[in-house]
Amino acid sequence: MSKQQDTSTLWGGRFTEATDAFVQRFTASVDFDQRMAGEDIAGSLAHARMLLSIGVLNSDELDAIEQGLKQVLAEIEAGEFAWSIEREDVHMNIEARLTEIIGSTGKKLHTGRSRNDQVATDIRLHLRAAIDVIAGELTRLQQGLIALAAEHTDTIMPGFTHLQTAQPVVFGHHLLAWNEMLERDHGRLMDCRARLNHSPLGAAALAGTTYPIDRHLTAQALGFDAPTVNSLDSVSDRDFAIEFCAFAALLMTHLSRMSEELVLWTSAQFDFVTLPDRFCTGSSIMPQKKNPDVPELVRGKVGRVNGHLVALLTLMKSQPLAYNKDNQEDKEPLFDTIDTVLDSLRAFADMIPAVQPNKAQMREAARRGFSTATDLADYLVGRGLPFRDAHEVVGKAVGHGVEHNIDLADMDLATLQGFCQDIGEDVYNVLTLEGSVAARDHLGGTAPRQVAQAARTAALLLEKRR
Ligand code: ARG
Repeated sequence: MSKQQDTSTLWGGRFTEATDAFVQRFTASVDFDQRMAGEDIAGSLAHARMLLSIGVLNSDELDAIEQGLKQVLAEIEAGEFAWSIEREDVHMNIEARLTEIIGSTGKKLHTGRSRNDQVATDIRLHLRAAIDVIAGELTRLQQGLIALAAEHTDTIMPGFTHLQTAQPVVFGHHLLAWNEMLERDHGRLMDCRARLNHSPLGAAALAGTTYPIDRHLTAQALGFDAPTVNSLDSVSDRDFAIEFCAFAALLMTHLSRMSEELVLWTSAQFDFVTLPDRFCTGSSIMPQKKNPDVPELVRGKVGRVNGHLVALLTLMKSQPLAYNKDNQEDKEPLFDTIDTVLDSLRAFADMIPAVQPNKAQMREAARRGFSTATDLADYLVGRGLPFRDAHEVVGKAVGHGVEHNIDLADMDLATLQGFCQDIGEDVYNVLTLEGSVAARDHLGGTAPRQVAQAARTAALLLEKRR
C-alpha cells in the first residue's frame, strides 16, 4: 500500500500522512481530561450493557468489555496507566487500551456512539459529582456560621453603612446575613444540578444513530433524570457548565465579601475577631505580623473564577451547531472552577467555627460613632414629633457630642432637654446598646430574640437538605 497510514489514532483510516507532531500536542486534551476517566468508563459500561439489550453485543462480548474496562480502571487508579498524547484524549486512550487488553471485541464498544455524545456525558457526570461534594462543603460552612450565630445573639457590634458606624447590631445577625447569601447560592447550585442531569448519550455525533438504541436505559443506569431531547443540542450544549461557573462566581463574590470583613476585623484598628494561628501566616521581616492569608487568598481567587465564567461565555458565543472542537476548551476553566470553589469552601468551613469574637472591643466600637442616634429620633417621634423634626433635633445633639467628645448616652438629662423639652428620664433605655438592638424586634430585625429564632429557622432549613 502506498498509503502511509497513521496507525496510532483510532480515526486514521482516511489519512495519508501522520499528524504533525506539534498539531498532535496542540489538539490533544488528555493531559487535562484524564480526570474524567471514571466517568468515561461508567458511561462506556452503561452504553455496552444497552448494546447487549438491543442485540448489538452478545453476552460474551459484554463480559469481555466489562472485564477489560475494570482492568483499565484499576490501572488508572494505581497510577500505572500509560496516558499517551498520540491517543489524543481520555476517551481514545481508554478505548485503545481496552482493545489492547481484550482484542478486537474492544472495537465494538463505540458502535452507535461518538466522542461527541461521550464527552458531553462525561462532563455532566463529572460536574454532577463535583456539585454533590461542593453542596456538602457549602452545607458544612453554613452549619458553622449558624452555630456561631446562635452563640452570639446578644454580642453587640456596630452595624455599618458606607463603612461608617450606623446602628448597633448583634454579631449573630451579621453572621446570618452571610448565611443568607450562601443559602441562595445553594439554591442556585441545586437548580444547576437539576438542569444538567439529563443524558446526552445516544445523540452520537450530532444526528442520532441508525441502531435501535435505548436512551432511557443508559440515562437511568447513569443516574440521569431523563435523556435529552434533541441530538444536535445534546452534543453542543454547555449551558450547564456556564451555569455552574455563574453560580461559582457569585459564591466566590460572597466569600470575598466575608473575607474582606474578616481581614478588616482582624486588623489592630478594628480588632473585632481573632483568627487562630493555624489559619494565618507570619512575615519574614516583621516579627509582629500575623496575616489573615486564608481570607485574603479566598478574596483573591474570585478573580480566576470570574475569568473562567467569561471564558466559557466567550467560548460558546456564536458557535454554530453542533459540536465544534472549540468545546474542548471548556474543560480547564470548568475544572479549575470546581477545584477553586472546593478549596475555598473547605478553608472557610474549617475556619469559621474557629473565629473568636472580641466582645469587649466590638461593644466599645458600637458605643463610638453615635450608633443610637436613630433610636433617639424614634423616641422623639413617640413623644409626638414628626420624624423630620426629630431628625433635626438629634442632629444638633450629635453635633454637640462631636464638639465635646461625648456620646449621647453620656449626656445628662438637662443637656438633652436643651435640644428638646420633651425628652424624659426614660430616654436612657433607648440610648443604650441593648435597648437599641432589643427594640428592632420584628422578622429580619437584629433583636436578640429575633436572631435566636432566625438561627433556629436557618438550622432547620439545613436539616431538610439531607
Ligand atoms: N476531546 C474532545 C473534547 O474535549 C472530545 C470530543 C472530540 N470530538 C471530535 N469530534 N473531535 O471535546
